[in-house]
Amino acid sequence: MTADHNAMKLLKVLNGTPVWPPPVWLMRQAGRYLPEYRKLRASADNFVVFCTTPGLATEATLQPIRRFGLDAAILFSDILILPWALGRPLRFAEGEGPRLSPIESEAEAAKLDPAAIGRAVEPVLETVGRVRGELAPDVPLIGFAGAPFTVACYMIDGRGGDFPRTRNLAYADPGLLATVIEIVTEATIDYLDRQVSAGADCVMLFDSWAGMLPPDLFRAHVIFPTTRFVAALRARPPTVKIIGFPRLAGLNALAYVGETGVDAVGMDTTTDPPALARLLPRDVALQGNLDPLLLRAGGPSLLETAGRIAESLAGRPHIFNLGHGVLPDTPPENVGALVSHIRGLEAPETQSVTQGAAQGATRGATQSGADTGLAGASRGAISAA
Ligand code: CP3
Repeated sequence: MTADHNAMKLLKVLNGTPVWPPPVWLMRQAGRYLPEYRKLRASADNFVVFCTTPGLATEATLQPIRRFGLDAAILFSDILILPWALGRPLRFAEGEGPRLSPIESEAEAAKLDPAAIGRAVEPVLETVGRVRGELAPDVPLIGFAGAPFTVACYMIDGRGGDFPRTRNLAYADPGLLATVIEIVTEATIDYLDRQVSAGADCVMLFDSWAGMLPPDLFRAHVIFPTTRFVAALRARPPTVKIIGFPRLAGLNALAYVGETGVDAVGMDTTTDPPALARLLPRDVALQGNLDPLLLRAGGPSLLETAGRIAESLAGRPHIFNLGHGVLPDTPPENVGALVSHIRGLEAPETQSVTQGAAQGATRGATQSGADTGLAGASRGAISAA
């Protein structure tokens, strides 16, 4: 059905307005932990074919929405579809994770043509259109891509892990890394612009490996390309909201939010939500960050912890989510219990929350520095932020 952006709680939050209880969706909400996904997945013999068959990808996107009534759908695809669309051979080896042919030279990088993704991504765009057509008007569809650095990691190393070639290249041949990132950035701008034209209501950039980089390289390979991406996408109407997820970035997340201009930041499992909230402008939305292992474990501490995360951000724009993706062996009923628990949360006493959060901007920052034993240097950075 036609999207009604005014009715979408998630978009309200991305506009900087707090909503109670917070809208909820989960990274990797579709996938192997759902029996209906495993059944559907068996109808294609490889994962790239699955992702590029609109009937299958549409169904996989909608499965968790039907089962749990989440507040957003995320396109069913993968961050590695973009390198595949750029012509890099890709396969998902059973039990081993993704394999790409590694880029080894400037000559190989120069052959990548960001303008060439059009044909290959057509089925993905068709999926976006079909999903948008089937979702209720108040349920947003999140389009996504990997962030340029994370995608470059897979393209250069050819596989997941700790990406030794990419990290070495950052010092040994920074020009080659920068070339790959630049091409991926251009292609990503085009790809997400196309997803938006096809019906995505907002977009998310997954920078799963951003946390490996020291601050200077983080600035060069995470902040710089993301800033370019945000500026370029904003320049193309219709303007969409952008969620960035610089996983494990720690304090680098402050500069990330300040400089890239993303509308929301995804918090990984290690982030203390109110501590980060105190350091960020009040109109920047926060997304996250329940530990996926706790979702898998279930029980009373799942619900208590989820409630505590939501309450700790009451009065701030917050999207409830995990700190990383749903694990394949998660019992689906834990997801159901989590969603109903969040939906049923009583509004915290708004007065104390609003006041507490408002005062927190300065006092809280100092306090969190003292609590965690951070030295003056980080507190200095905090007051400068
Ligand atoms: O529900 C959703 O969130 C949408 C679908 C989605 C997938 N991958 C489906 C998938 C999304 C958003 C991704 C993002 C993704 N893919 C990331 C960023 C987020 C993160 O987890 O850090 C990364 C790094 C990848 C790369 C990737 N894809 C790996 C490492 C693997 C193998 C490990 C695994 O979980 O299997 C994949 C495969 C993959 N992507 C599957 C799914 C459902 C499993 C393939 C299958 O079902 O056979």
